Amino acid sequence: MIFTLFMLFTVMNMTKAETCRSTENGPVIPTIPLVIFLERVQEAALQAYGRKGFDAKLFVDMSLRQNLSATVEAFNKLPRTENGSIPANDLDVFIGNYLGGPDEDLVYVEPVDYVAEPEGFLPKVKNSEARAWALEVHSLWKNLSRKVSDNVLENPELYTLLPLKNPVIIPGSRFKEVYYWDSYWVIRGLLVSKMYETAKGIVANLISLIDQFGYVLNGARAYYTNRRCASFSHPDL
Ligand SMILES: *[C@@H]1O[C@H](CO)[C@@H](O)[C@H](O)[C@H]1NC(C)=O
Ligand SMILES: *[C@@H]1O[C@H](CO)[C@@H](O)[C@H](O)[C@H]1NC(C)=O
Ligand SMILES: *[C@@H]1O[C@H](CO)[C@@H](O)[C@H](O)[C@H]1NC(C)=O
Repeated sequence: MIFTLFMLFTVMNMTKAETCRSTENGPVIPTIPLVIFLERVQEAALQAYGRKGFDAKLFVDMSLRQNLSATVEAFNKLPRTENGSIPANDLDVFIGNYLGGPDEDLVYVEPVDYVAEPEGFLPKVKNSEARAWALEVHSLWKNLSRKVSDNVLENPELYTLLPLKNPVIIPGSRFKEVYYWDSYWVIRGLLVSKMYETAKGIVANLISLIDQFGYVLNGARAYYTNRRCASFSHPDL
C-alpha cells in the first residue's frame, strides 16, 4: 500500500515551483468571473468595514445564493457614498441576502476508516502518556474530515470551491479547503493512523486536479487555478 502511494507521489512529482504553504497570504489572482466579482465584494468590504480585523479570504470564499448575473445586478444597485464606498449597513444586507457563508461548501463527514485505537498503532510507543497524546492527535482526524457538499456538486458555478469526489482532511481554522502541501503531511499521518481508505481518496482527489488542470493546485479553490506549489519530492518522502 505504501509503495502504491509512493508511486502515485512520484507521478505527481512533475514540476518544481516555488514553495507555498497554506499560511501564504499572497494576492488572489482573478481567474473566473465569480472570483472577479467576489474580489469586488472584498474591496467594498474593506472600504465599508475598515482594515481592523479584516479577513480578505472570508469574502473570496463566499458562495452565491443566486446566479452571478442576478447577484452582480443587485450589487451594482447598492447605494454609494461620495467617495464610492458602500455603506456598511447596505453591504451587510446584501451579503446576508445574496452570499453564502464560507462554511457551507464543505460539510462534516465521519471518516469510514477511523477507529479510536487502530490495530498496530505506533507499536514502538510504549510510554502511556506519550501513547495517550498520540491517540489524542489521532482522534483529530475525526474533527478535520469533510466532504464537498451536494450543493457544490449540483451547482459548482456558485462556488469557488472546486468539487472533489472523495472526503478530504482540512488544515483547520480559516483554511477550510484542501491544500497540496498540507496533504503530504496529512497522508503521512493517515498512514500512521492506518486510515488507508481516506489516504487513497485524498491521493485520488489530487490526481483529479492534475487531470483537470495539468498539475495540483496550491489549494482546491477556483482562485488558485493559476498558482501551483512545490511538489512532493523524493527527499521529502
Ligand atoms: C439568473 O437568475 C435570475 C433571477 O433568479 C433569472 O431571471 C435569470 O434568468 C437567471 N440568469 C441566468 C443566466 O441563468
Ligand atoms: C467614505 O465615506 C464614508 C462616509 O461618507 C466614510 O465612513 C468612509 O470612511 C470613507 N472611506 C474612505 C476610504 O475614505
Ligand atoms: C473534536 O470534536 C469533538 C466532538 O465534536 C469536540 O468535542 C472536540 O472539542 C473537538 N476537538 C477539537 C480540537 O476541535
